[in-house]
Amino acid sequence: MSNVDAAPRTYQYLTLERDGAVCVLTLSRPEKLNALNHALLTELDDAVTSLQADRSLRVVIVTGAGEKAFVAGADIGELAVLDTRGAEAASAFGSRVFRKLETGPQTVIAAVNGFALGGGCELALACHIRLAAENAKFGLPEVGLGIIPGYGGTQRLPRLVGLGVASEMIATGRMVGAEEALRIGLVQKVVEPEALLPAATEIARTIAAKGPLAVKLVKRVAREGLLMDFESGCALEAQHFGDPFEGEGAEGMRAFLEKRPPKW
Ligand code: COA
Repeated sequence: MSNVDAAPRTYQYLTLERDGAVCVLTLSRPEKLNALNHALLTELDDAVTSLQADRSLRVVIVTGAGEKAFVAGADIGELAVLDTRGAEAASAFGSRVFRKLETGPQTVIAAVNGFALGGGCELALACHIRLAAENAKFGLPEVGLGIIPGYGGTQRLPRLVGLGVASEMIATGRMVGAEEALRIGLVQKVVEPEALLPAATEIARTIAAKGPLAVKLVKRVAREGLLMDFESGCALEAQHFGDPFEGEGAEGMRAFLEKRPPKW
C-alpha cells in the first residue's frame, strides 16, 4: 500500500491508502467515534473530489478508524448550537458530499467496523456495497434527539430495505446488529472484524478486474432506474447497452472467444 498519489494533501481526519486501482479511505476521529464534524466533512468533500479526478482509481473502500465505530453520526455538539437556517445548510452540505461520493465514477464499498449511526449510517447508505463486521450496529437515532436524519437517510433507507422496515427503524431509532442488517438487505456480507478489510478488498479487486465503463454504467443505470418507472428504466438500460461495444466491450468479448484475459 502507498499513500494515494491523486490526493497528496494531508488531512487531519482522513487517511488514504492506495493499492493499484483500490483506495482505502479511513475516517479518523476515533476519540469521538469518528463523528462527522464540519472539518471532517470538509476534508471528505475535498478527498472525494481528488479521488474522483483519478481515472485509474476504480474502487474506494470507506471505513472508520479504531475498533469501535465506523461513524457514530454527525457531531452532536456542533448540531446543538445551530438555528433552523444553520441546520438546513448543514444538511445540504452533508447531503451534497454523500451524493458526490454516490454519483462519482468509482464503486464505493462501506466496510462498517462498528457503530454506523445517524450520519454514519447515511454514509454507508450512500455507498454502493456494504460489508459489516460482526460488531457493526446500524441505526438512525435522530428522533431520540428530537431531530430527523439530514444526509439522505429518510430517502435511501426505504429504497434499500423497504418502507415498513425503514419506518420502524427511523421512528424508533432502534439499532440493528450485523446479522439483522444482513437479513433485511442493509448489508451484503458479515465477517469477523479482522476479516472486514480483506473481504472488502477482495470484492474491490474483483470489480476492478471487470470492464471499467461497464461497471460505471451498471451502477448508474441501476441507481437511476430505481427512481423511474419500470419501462423508463429498461429504456435507460437499452440506451446505454451499445456504449461499450466499440471499446472495452469489443475487447472483452474478443478475449472470451480467444480464451484469454481481457486487456482494458
Ligand atoms: N457526536 C459527537 N460526539 C460523539 C458522537 C456524536 N454523534 N458519538 C459519540 N461521541 C463522543 C462521545 O460524546 C464521547 O466523547 P467524550 O469521551 O468526550 O465524552 C466519545 O465520542 C465516546 O462515546 P461514548 O458515548 O462515551 O461511547 P459509548 O460506547 O458509551 O456509546 C454510542 C457509543 C455510539 C452508543 C454513543 O456514543 C452514542 O449514542 N452516540 C451518538 C449517536 C447518535 O445519536 N448519532 C446521531 C447523531 S445526529
